[in-house]
Amino acid sequence: MARSGKVTVVGAGFYGSTTAQRLAEYDIFETVVLTDIIEGKPEGLALDMNQSRPIEGFETKVVGATTGTDGSGYEQTADSDIVVITAGLPRKPGMSRMDLIETNAKIVRQVAENVAKFSPLAVVIVVSNPLDEMTALAANATGFPKRRVIGQAGMLDTARFTHFVAEALGVPVASVNTLTLGSHGDTMVPVPSACTVDGKPLSEALDQATIDALVDRTRNGGAEVVALLKTGSAYYAPSAAAARMAKAVAEDSGAVMPVCTWVDGEYGIDGVYLGVEAEIGAGGARTVVERKLTDTELAGLKEAAEAVRAKQADVANL
Ligand code: APR
Repeated sequence: MARSGKVTVVGAGFYGSTTAQRLAEYDIFETVVLTDIIEGKPEGLALDMNQSRPIEGFETKVVGATTGTDGSGYEQTADSDIVVITAGLPRKPGMSRMDLIETNAKIVRQVAENVAKFSPLAVVIVVSNPLDEMTALAANATGFPKRRVIGQAGMLDTARFTHFVAEALGVPVASVNTLTLGSHGDTMVPVPSACTVDGKPLSEALDQATIDALVDRTRNGGAEVVALLKTGSAYYAPSAAAARMAKAVAEDSGAVMPVCTWVDGEYGIDGVYLGVEAEIGAGGARTVVERKLTDTELAGLKEAAEAVRAKQADVANL
């Protein structure tokens, strides 16, 4: 099998290491590079992952690299086709994603500047929180074309929604299609009109009160995991989502996924990073796919756009 390309995952914490492992196990990349500022951690994890190759049956090589905030070590990431940025603090119980903004802005800015320097043609996938703001900041700090920087949130929120619906109905997750748009936070916009169970509208399978409760649980899906873990936040479902986005970029598949991308005119919304569906390919988000929304859903999306727009303006100065 032909393997090609280089993908770097910045941050070898829970999210970054599980993402790197998933990417390696796809067995489509020549190299997966995992970096962190904690000396030895990425090298140790890379060694461990490489030793899983004979068991899992993949040939992709994993390279660990300790980096400094001065950019040292980034030469090992040079000319990556894709960079996934997971560096940053996760939430603690009771925290909102927005509570991380100042700390993570500094980290993501420094990472993004080095990514731009060493991998000027990369597609950047941001997952650090608060997601919509960190995606905007990474785009700004890299100076890359806006659609070449995308954020992961919608795939995860949608997967959570799908899981909850499937569990409530006792049906396979494969029978359920759901969708969430908007921000990765309080102004997340679940789109019931796009949700189906075995091809039939969700409203025929569940009553409105149950749908509302599942929507609420989806909106608080991350916080529910954080409260149970007590230290750290979710990473299995998040890394699955980020890795699938990277795969779509690597394969130039054109898969339509809910992602955080630059919206400029679509849905009547101007100039903001927002969760919408987009075709994902070699250059990042090829095009935003607009679907027919109900008036309530569209109003929710516009409200989300204005909420993240204000915050995205703030991060320019962080
Ligand atoms: N460069 C590289 N790595 C960094 C940097 C930096 N400048 N600053 C911090 N890191 C690393 C930390 O050393 C740590 O290993 O980022 C890693 C973060 O890992 P975890 O604390 O395990 O957090 P994780 O669960 O992986 O979440 C990472 O994703 O979902 C979001 O909110 C979450 O912002 C958080 C991010």
